[in-house]
Parts: sequence; C-alpha cells; structure tokens
Amino acid sequence: MQTVLITGCSSGFGLETARCFLDRGWAVVATMRQPRQDVLPHSERLRLLALDVTDPASIEQAVQAAGPIDVLVNNAGIGWLNALEGTPMAAARELFETNTLGTIAMTQVVLPQMRERRAGVIVNVSSSVTLRSLPLLSVYTGSKAAVNAFTESLALELEPFDVRVRLVLPGRAPDTSFGDNARSRMRDGFPDAYSDLAQRVFAGLQDGGPVTHSSDVAQAVWRAATDPSCPMRLPAGADAVAVAGSR
Ligand SMILES: NC(=O)c1ccc[n+]([C@@H]2O[C@H](COP(=O)([O-])OP(=O)(O)OC[C@H]3O[C@@H](n4cnc5c(N)ncnc54)[C@H](OP(=O)(O)O)[C@@H]3O)[C@@H](O)[C@H]2O)c1
Repeated sequence: MQTVLITGCSSGFGLETARCFLDRGWAVVATMRQPRQDVLPHSERLRLLALDVTDPASIEQAVQAAGPIDVLVNNAGIGWLNALEGTPMAAARELFETNTLGTIAMTQVVLPQMRERRAGVIVNVSSSVTLRSLPLLSVYTGSKAAVNAFTESLALELEPFDVRVRLVLPGRAPDTSFGDNARSRMRDGFPDAYSDLAQRVFAGLQDGGPVTHSSDVAQAVWRAATDPSCPMRLPAGADAVAVAGSR
C-alpha cells in the first residue's frame, strides 16, 4: 500500500486531498498543527500527526513517526493581502517561513528515504497568482514564486534518482479557510493611500467568474502524485486553468 504525507490537513485543500487519497485506498498520514479527530472519516489507513512546518523539531518528529513515505504533499500555507507598505516585515517573514521555507524544510527531511529507495513524488502546492500577478499580493506571490523556482530546479536535481517533483497551482478558492485566516492576520487594515485600490480589488473579487474548489486541487494533487506524464506545473480549478491557458 502506498503512503502519502500531507501538510496542513485541518481544512481546505489539505483536508480534501487527504479524503481523496483515503477514498482511493492509500495509507494517509494527515498532519496538522493541532490534530483533530473529527475532520476525517475513521480509517485504519489514516494516521493523524502533529506537524508545524516552521518548527524543525516538529518536522523531524512527524517524519520519523510516519515511516516510509511514497508521496509528500507540501500544502500548508498562509495568505496575506495588503500593499507592501501595509505589510510589516514580521508578516513577510511569517509568509516565507511557512510557504517557502516550510516547503523546503519538509522536503529536505523526507527526501533522503526517497533518494535511497529511488522512488517517490513530492507535490508542492503553489498558486496561480504566480502565473498572472495581482495587486496587493506582492509578498504572498513572492513566497509562492520562490516555491515554483525551488521545485523546478529540484526536479532536475532529483531526476537521476527517479524522484519526481511537481507543482500544483490552484486558483482562488473562497470556500476554504484561507481568506478568513489571512484576514485575521491583517488587523491593521490598508494604508490610507491604498484604500481606493483595495476597494477596487475587493469589488473585482465579488464580480463572479470561475473559482477553484478543494476537489479540483485534490484531483490535481492525485494526478501529480500518480501520473508520471503529468506536466511540471498543473493548474487546479477553472480560473487557474484559464490563466494558465492564456499565457
Ligand atoms: N484558498 C486559496 O484561494 C488558495 C489559492 C491558491 C493557493 N492556495 C494555497 O493552498 C494551500 C492550502 O490553502 P487552503 O485554501 O486550503 O487554506 P486553509 O483552509 O487555510 O488551509 C491551510 C492549512 O495550512 C495549515 N498551516 C498554516 N500554517 C501552518 C504551519 N506553520 N504548519 C503546518 N500547517 C500550517 C493550516 O493549519 P491551521 O489550521 O493549524 O492553521 C491549514 O490546515 C496553501 O499553501 C495556500 O497558499 C490557496
């Protein structure tokens, strides 16, 4: 039986991806900062482990407890929407610590067993904002664009060891906890000079149009994990597919 370890399974894409792999008969190591028994169905193939991707000791402990991992899904991430001038450096550091360095740190700890076995897949969840830039997302986009560049270089480095590395690029998913979590970090609001721009950006978000659902991302992660012919960058969600197609 194949085993997948997924980061950030308490909600959203990570939770749906865990369900998807469980439904398909895999052993799933669902990791969360604070493990919750109630969000996933009971299964002998499911293990819940505590894991904070910004904490090296927590990463070591979880990866050791997990045992052999066939697929690593680096999904944990946080958002931030504000002008650069409204972004404290502490917030910028938190974004890069979680989204970028968290992905790198997880990969570094899981990789040796995959290289030794000459088998394994690493799927990194990035964002379609790295394909088409939007205002007020400069720092978040930077944190994810770095994941893209990291992933694409690492893929070349690991090819000789038969370890595959792929990117999944979701579009905007208003249904996950992502927006609420980001808003709770943005207590100080927008700088006055950017309030008109912020209003226009928010009005644009209400305009309707295609969005991404967690199931789109779970399907894309599944394909990236199981289909060796999957492209390096896989957009997930109707809006992400449209953006990728227009480039
Ligand atoms: N939603 C979107 O519009 C969107 C679009 C493109 C890409 N993405 C990316 O997709 C991924 C999942 O987002 P989502 O929409 O599913 O958001 P979500 O519902 O907020 O889920 C994010 C998950 O990451 C976890 N997390 C945050 N910081 C962590 C840390 N330090 N260590 C371990 N886990 C941590 C959260 O856990 P806690 O419950 O402990 O906070 C949560 O389980 C993220 O990488 C995000 O950047 C999202």
